[in-house]
Amino acid sequence: MTRFSSFAIALVLGLLPSLLRAETSMIKETPFGTTADGIAVKVYEVSNPSGMKIRLLTRGATLIGVDVPDRDGKLADVVFGFDNIASYESDSNQYFGCTTGRCANRIAKGKFSLDGKDYQLACNDGPNALHGGVKRSLDKVVWDAMPFEEGASRGVKFQYSSPDGEEGYPGKLDMAVTFTLTDANEVKIDYSATTDKATPVNLTNHAYFNLGGAGSPTINDHVLMLNADGYTPVDDTLIPTGEIAKVEGTPLDFRRSTRIGDRVDELTDTAALGYDHNFVLNQAKPGEMTKAAELYDPASGRLLTVSTTEPGIQFYGGNFLKGQQGKGGKTYAHRSGCCLETQHFPNSINTPAFPTVVLKPGETYSHTCIYGFSVK
Ligand code: BGC
Repeated sequence: MTRFSSFAIALVLGLLPSLLRAETSMIKETPFGTTADGIAVKVYEVSNPSGMKIRLLTRGATLIGVDVPDRDGKLADVVFGFDNIASYESDSNQYFGCTTGRCANRIAKGKFSLDGKDYQLACNDGPNALHGGVKRSLDKVVWDAMPFEEGASRGVKFQYSSPDGEEGYPGKLDMAVTFTLTDANEVKIDYSATTDKATPVNLTNHAYFNLGGAGSPTINDHVLMLNADGYTPVDDTLIPTGEIAKVEGTPLDFRRSTRIGDRVDELTDTAALGYDHNFVLNQAKPGEMTKAAELYDPASGRLLTVSTTEPGIQFYGGNFLKGQQGKGGKTYAHRSGCCLETQHFPNSINTPAFPTVVLKPGETYSHTCIYGFSVK
């Protein structure tokens, strides 16, 4: 054997394990452009053996694609998103698929007090603070990403350390958000966080679903079940009054599966403009994994089951969608997508009667949400 051929054989043998890994890998990493601040953004496509795929963006630890089969096995992408980073950074992006926080949903007048100190956040939703702030809320920062493949579980772990005072919140908050795609067609999202000062934390994911495929004209024909006897009524700026009211006898009673469009117009002339409410889940004990919701599209047969450890879920029916153009030139019309955001209740930091959102040094915030997909 010549020196060259033995070198070539050694080279191939040396590369073989990584070539094999590359071929069998269920995770693909691709560049997704650069933010206006010059930060490179990546997208990870994660597949499972039955062909389901999810796509995850480092900007905002964002779920930008979920390809799932209908009852005939035909795949469609059922979440909203954009094809480029400039659109994610534009006004067309109404929190599509992002990790939302540090405090998802509203804080009245952006004010709260903790340990004898007053804090003022930016007010970006009329008089209130919404979804963590203006420039450095969690949806807008670029997270570190660590893809993983361990047996039947694969996904991406995102990490971000938010400095003390960022967007007005106290404490350095170290967060991890792990998306796992299981063999059972579930997207499992595990959140954790620790802090060095007492601080409010309420993380969620803001995916907009249309189970007929993102860009289908309406969610009014979807059928929804919410495992909630109660909800948190709001004032005319969508801040909870502090009361927990019964859903019974209202258009918010989804304890039995009901078509979304059947009663939505009864809410059009309210402050919420339709469905945009926090439901109090029927949970056996705090923190216990509970089935929260089922969303079903009779036309495609796709069924989404949402389970969570959180006490609440915001069902937002896409009332503020404005016909913006999304992935593949699709249009996202008024009420053509809905969010099922597992969370603590809005404005909890100012409402002592609600389960606390205060995280203290030495404690670990944790929250799991599973979006499971099947057909019937
Ligand atoms: C809120 C809506 C808000 C939307 C922003 C939802 O979580 O409940 O009121 O307009 O986020 O996209």
